[in-house]
Amino acid sequence: MWQISPLPTSLALMGAGLLVVGALTRSAPLMAGAALVMAMAAPLEAPVKRLAVLSAYPVAFFLSLTWHGVALGVADLLGALLVSGGVGVLVLGRQQAAKEDRWQQRVVTALHKGSQRLPAARDSMGIIRAGLDTLDVLKIAPHLAFVAYREGTPMILAGRGAYGAVVDTPVHSFRDGSAGHSVQTDLLVAEHAAALLRPQAARHTHMAPVHGHAGIHLGLLLLSRSEDLPFTPEEKNAVQAFARLLGGQLGQWQAISDLYEANDQTLRALGSALELRDDNTGGHTNRVVSLAVRLARHLGWNERQIHALRCGAYLHDLGKIAIPDDILHKAGTLSEEERRVIQTHATRGHDMLQNLQFLPAETLDLVRYHHERWDGKGYPAGLRGHQIPEGARLFSIIDVYDALTHARPYKAAWSCERAAQELREQAGRQFDPFFVDAFLELMVEQDEAQLVS
Ligand SMILES: [Fe+2]
Repeated sequence: MWQISPLPTSLALMGAGLLVVGALTRSAPLMAGAALVMAMAAPLEAPVKRLAVLSAYPVAFFLSLTWHGVALGVADLLGALLVSGGVGVLVLGRQQAAKEDRWQQRVVTALHKGSQRLPAARDSMGIIRAGLDTLDVLKIAPHLAFVAYREGTPMILAGRGAYGAVVDTPVHSFRDGSAGHSVQTDLLVAEHAAALLRPQAARHTHMAPVHGHAGIHLGLLLLSRSEDLPFTPEEKNAVQAFARLLGGQLGQWQAISDLYEANDQTLRALGSALELRDDNTGGHTNRVVSLAVRLARHLGWNERQIHALRCGAYLHDLGKIAIPDDILHKAGTLSEEERRVIQTHATRGHDMLQNLQFLPAETLDLVRYHHERWDGKGYPAGLRGHQIPEGARLFSIIDVYDALTHARPYKAAWSCERAAQELREQAGRQFDPFFVDAFLELMVEQDEAQLVS
């Protein structure tokens, strides 16, 4: 289908008309001018159109000779050759320009698409996969791979085309395990990765290192193609631009991930320190964190929600720091006033944490409301049902289950079955029944997993 704008179409038709008139009147200058107008105006995207423009003048020229019954002279021949050559140069030049335009448009589209898709990815593998999908839009090569080091060994983490069949394959093992990330090493890795494919699939391979912030080496982009067509400088530039975009996103994710990890370790240390002051609940914090995260994953919570839950689980009893020892560690029955003082740990913990900007709001909610009850008889606010933030609703089940199944100074450890029965009975009273069901379901799955493992 001819998809051309009205102005070039009019010019091309005018040129064709003038060519016919020139042929009928045997006017060589008119035919030459008309052929040049056609060459300038005609669309050149398809070979047929290109051939039509290139052959229009010679056809008209020979028709004019036949029509007028004129013998071919040297001047006529030279003129025809000059015009045909000129038209050819024009057409090929315009064709090359159109090809470059299309290529640049494709690069811009791919980079634009990448800049939208990469930040939307949820983790590093998501970024890498989205990166390869976006690179695929450029159509530079059919076989694409991202290679990164795992414990000193380069691995194909993601692949498209023939590399898709060798994902998770180690590329090359360095004997000393510390080959570093020099250009020579990258080239060696690229060579070994390409060798994983059939020789015909990787006749030409191009490698682009991917660097994050401060030049940290994050991996390699590999492009292989089966045609005997070396990668052009334009293609290499486009791949490099894309590798920078990918490196920026991966580096950003890595930085956030490191920050989360640092925060996590700090909170873990704080939670463990708290246990030393509390009664002998050794391991309670780590257990409730682990169990809460498992339940959240079982429920399909996203990573942001899980992060907030994990932080809250570490810090849920932070406010106990502010409770006097003689009340916190009292062996006998607590008076009403002492019970009220202990209950302040929820709001005190919340108040202590509220200025920590890096903590999600859901974490603060969990600390404040982890003793609320589904029936509204909890503390500190007496919230009921779905008024209670979901992190606190979920966590309260885990907190109580762990307390029941482990010994305290004032009670022996309950069996898992007895604790599960207690949760069942408290569903709709103390706990959100939906989360109780999910937790019990998780417990059953775990038991089954233990049986088959
Ligand atoms: Fe508590």
